[in-house]
Amino acid sequence: MKYKMLSSLLNGDLQTIEKELENSIQASDPLLHEASLHLLQAGGKRIRPVFVLLAAKFGTYDIDVVKKVAMALELIHMASLVHDDVIDESLLRRGAPTIQAKWNNKVAMYTGDYIFARAQELMTEVGKPAAHKLISNTIVEVCIGEIEQIRDKYIFDQTVRNYFRRIKRKTALLIATSCQLGGIVSGVDERTHKTLFRFGYYVGMSYQVMDDILDFTASEKVLGKPAGSDLKQGNITMPVLFALKHKELREKIITVHEGISDEEMQEIIEEIKKSGAIDQSIEISDRFLQKAFDELKKLPNGRPRKNLQDIAKYIGKRKF
Ligand code: IPE
Ligand code: IPE
Ligand code: MG
Ligand code: MG
Repeated sequence: MKYKMLSSLLNGDLQTIEKELENSIQASDPLLHEASLHLLQAGGKRIRPVFVLLAAKFGTYDIDVVKKVAMALELIHMASLVHDDVIDESLLRRGAPTIQAKWNNKVAMYTGDYIFARAQELMTEVGKPAAHKLISNTIVEVCIGEIEQIRDKYIFDQTVRNYFRRIKRKTALLIATSCQLGGIVSGVDERTHKTLFRFGYYVGMSYQVMDDILDFTASEKVLGKPAGSDLKQGNITMPVLFALKHKELREKIITVHEGISDEEMQEIIEEIKKSGAIDQSIEISDRFLQKAFDELKKLPNGRPRKNLQDIAKYIGKRKF
């Protein structure tokens, strides 16, 4: 099933969210408004809101409540992207110039903070303290994940476990939280929202592994963000961890440093692609996805479960 078709199952609720997201970032300051609108209008897959909405279908679905959570999750994600692009010195996001490229780092810092604050504001309208706590914990973990990534730069003898812990924090937990909160605010029982959390966690792990693969295999044009830059920046991801197991290739990879020339870097990337590391990484991503499907089997059979399954499948096969 195509992603667009799946979104259409949500009966226009996603469009409602889209419109209200624009309203939610209205600011009296023109610069804050323009910068956040710039990122919002650049698009994005909106997978976190989709997960919130679909998870909410397991309980009593009230769009007026669920949409606030869905919007908050997308805003938190967006804010983390704004800050991430500063850290990664990226010039492109969602096919458009990043905020620091179009304005500067200071504007990006405050725009990120501003979007975070708007998300918190939306959550206060939801009420549930448990939901706030979950979201705050998740943001803390994302921060730790991003800091760990900076700390672990160019460390070539790190373990796969280390990598998994990092991507759990920087990506998987936010997707897990999206699924769990969708359930919680629609009043599902504890067993169900915990299962939704685990489903989201495995989907998120699969998603980030795939993102790290795409950095090697896809183009900037397709991704709408820079490609081939993770290793150059010292970010040791799944394909690199597999490639490091080859003795000769390892010798080359460990020479990678910040000032490496583009030609040298390209050569190493090509060798990594030829080493089998990409297929091995795809297998890891698939394995996480399979675990997500296993979690789904614990949920009642029906439309909502089928929809979550379809979206997880789409994510597994994504090319952008
Ligand atoms: C990008 O997230 C960062 C990762 C966690 C991989 P998305 O791939 O969901 O980005 P958008 O929202 O579609 O732009
Ligand atoms: C982004 O990590 C995830 C965040 C939690 C902010 P990456 O740096 O790997 O993602 P992209 O490639 O910039 O989207
Ligand atoms: Mg980045
Ligand atoms: Mg990053």
